[in-house]
Amino acid sequence: MTILDGKKVSNEIKDEITAEVNKMKANGEKVPHLAAVIVGNDGASLTYVGSKVRACERVGFESTMVRLSNTTSEVELLDKIEELNENKEIDGFIIQLPLPPQINTQKVLMAVHPDKDVDGFHPMNFGKMALDMSTFIPATPFGILELLDRYGVETKGKHTVVIGRSHIVGRPMSILMGRRGFPGNSTVTLTHSHTKNITQITSQADIIISALGIPNFLKAEMIKDDAVVIDVGITRVPDENSTKGYVITGDVDFKNVSKKVSYITPVPGGVGPMTIAMLLKNTLLARERHRASSI
Ligand code: GUN
Repeated sequence: MTILDGKKVSNEIKDEITAEVNKMKANGEKVPHLAAVIVGNDGASLTYVGSKVRACERVGFESTMVRLSNTTSEVELLDKIEELNENKEIDGFIIQLPLPPQINTQKVLMAVHPDKDVDGFHPMNFGKMALDMSTFIPATPFGILELLDRYGVETKGKHTVVIGRSHIVGRPMSILMGRRGFPGNSTVTLTHSHTKNITQITSQADIIISALGIPNFLKAEMIKDDAVVIDVGITRVPDENSTKGYVITGDVDFKNVSKKVSYITPVPGGVGPMTIAMLLKNTLLARERHRASSI
């Protein structure tokens, strides 16, 4: 059994990005600048955005965190997005999800200029991804592809089962694993809350990618020997023994499932750090594209 060590690989990617930034600095060029907008005070979202900003510092990017109150109106957020679209200093930005209920998420994501949409959530970029065109690939699926690539995990002709159809992970993942090329060329089954007898499906899977958000959902009895298991779950489970009062728990019953698999991602230290590294990679790509069009 091999652990797909997202922490280690993400550090390698960050080192590669740092080397690119150092070259930009040596040439007197502008370095990439990422902005992150967060609306409200959700603890998990604040933690994630904090990690994204720290990662920018680590690789030498500029970063801007925009904090808006929980009562921000849709119009106020759309105004802020317009400002970021127009700001030539900013190469890319993200709107951290979820948003408060008074705000229409789809309307907001469509307002982000596709050239600055480093999350890859705009319909133009999502469509390009589905059509194999060069674009920003959403960071979590992109991170999973990169992990499979760097560990040389075979995907061609394999049966990949994706659990969860979210726009951020499950849906794009199902498209990407079925694309031509590597990683890809899988036969993909996308399962969700209406899927009947999921064990019958997971037990036939060569590769399982779980993005469900139910702690310890995937049990050893649900998988076949030597499966590849990718755990995207990051649920905060209350725990009195932890100083934070919670532990981050994945979708996979790691203790038992890890005994049967060929490859597995841990939680934490698997997909999470890869997501951040790939957001940086998309921001670097945004800067390179802006430079090429001399913005
Ligand atoms: N919320 C959970 N995952 C993500 C992500 O990848 N991007 C943004 N913007 N919000 C998220």
